[in-house]
Amino acid sequence: MIGLFDRLTLPLLHALDAEDAHGLAVRMLKLMPPLPARRDDQRLKLRVFGLNFPNPVGLAAGFDKHAEVPDALLRIGFGFVEVGTITPLPQAGNPRPRVFRLDADRGVINRLGFNSQGADAALARLAARARAGGIVGINVGANKDSADRVADYVKLIECFAAVSSYVTVNISSPNTPGLRNLQQAVVLDDLLARVVDARERVAPQAGPTPVLLKIAPDLALGDLDDVVGIARARRVDGMIVGNTTVARPPHLRETLTAREAGGLSGAPLLTLANRMLAETYVRVEDAFPLVGAGGVDSGDTALARIRAGASLIQLYSGLVFRGLGLVAEIKSALCAALEREGADSISDFVGTDAASVTAEPWPK
Ligand SMILES: Cc1cc2nc3c(=O)[nH]c(=O)nc-3n(C[C@H](O)[C@H](O)[C@H](O)COP(=O)(O)O)c2cc1C
Repeated sequence: MIGLFDRLTLPLLHALDAEDAHGLAVRMLKLMPPLPARRDDQRLKLRVFGLNFPNPVGLAAGFDKHAEVPDALLRIGFGFVEVGTITPLPQAGNPRPRVFRLDADRGVINRLGFNSQGADAALARLAARARAGGIVGINVGANKDSADRVADYVKLIECFAAVSSYVTVNISSPNTPGLRNLQQAVVLDDLLARVVDARERVAPQAGPTPVLLKIAPDLALGDLDDVVGIARARRVDGMIVGNTTVARPPHLRETLTAREAGGLSGAPLLTLANRMLAETYVRVEDAFPLVGAGGVDSGDTALARIRAGASLIQLYSGLVFRGLGLVAEIKSALCAALEREGADSISDFVGTDAASVTAEPWPK
C-alpha cells in the first residue's frame, strides 16, 4: 500500500518546489484514513530513556513542525515521531525560497529559520491527542528576537511536559543567528541546569519527561568533550547527534545549489553524522543513550548508525528521496540482521563499531 503510494506521489512531489512538496505531503497525511498501524516484530522493541519504543526508527524534527500529523506518521510505522521545532511565539522564519533539493546528491539544504505556528497552536493539538498513545516527542527552540533565549526553553518545557513523551532542547539549528552559541560551555551549563530544573518542577503534575539535547555535527571534538561533560553533569536523559551541517563536502555534485546558505542533510551528511555519533558514544560511556540522525536512508545505514552507538535512529531527508516505504525497509533489514547474527534485540548491536569508527581517518 505504502509502496504504491510512493510510486504515485514521489514523481509529483519532486516536480514541485521543495517547500510546496512538503506542504502537500503534510496535507496528504491529514487525509490518510485512520487505519490501525501494523504491529512491529517483537524483536524491534526497545526501552530507552524509560520509554517503550515499538521499533527504533523515528521521524526527525522539521517534518511535522507544528504537530499537525503525528498520529498519521506513527501509523505509517515510525517507532516515534519528533514534532517541532516549536518556538514560544509564532514566527514566519526566513523568506522563501528556503528549502532546496540536491537531487544528484540525495541531499537537502534548508534555511527555514524556525518557521513556527508557536506554542499555543501545537499545545492544543498535542493535548487533543494526548491519550492516543505512541511516542511523540517535542523539539523546542527559542524565538529569533527573544530577549532571553534560555527562558524560552524553560517556558516550553513547562508548557509541553504533560503532553509529550520527551522534550528535545534544540541548540543546533544553523538558521537562527547565534543559536549554536548555546553550545558554548558556560551558556550550555546554565541552559541545561534551568531546563532540567523546570522539568523537575513540573514532574509532580506532568510525570517524568526525558530531556534530550540535540547538537550540531559541526562541533570541534574539544567542544564535544565539553558538551558531553556538561550533559552528563546536568543529567540529561540523552542526546541527538545531530542536526544539519553548515559544511559542504567537496564531493557534492549539485555545486550551484550547494552554494545556498543553510543546513545540509541527507546522504552527503552520512559519514560526518556517523562519525560524530561514534565520537559522542565513546565520550558518554553509557551515561545515557543516543539518537543518531543524519543521512540514514537504508537498512545498512540504519544498522551502521546503531553499531556506531545509536540506541534509536531518526531520519527526514531519506523520505524525500526514498518515500515512506523506507520505514518498513529499515525495519525488515534490522530484523534480518537480528536473524543473521542470532541476536535477541537491537540493543545487542548498539556501539559495537564505535571504537573502529572513531579510528578511521576524519571524513571529508
Ligand atoms: C527541511 C528540514 C527542516 C528541518 N527542521 C528542523 C527543525 O525544525 N528542528 C530540528 O531540530 N531539526 C530540523 N531538521 C534537521 C533534521 O531533524 C535532522 O536532524 C537532519 O536533517 C539530519 O537528518 P536527515 O539527513 O535524515 O535529514 C530539519 C531538516 C530538514 C531537511
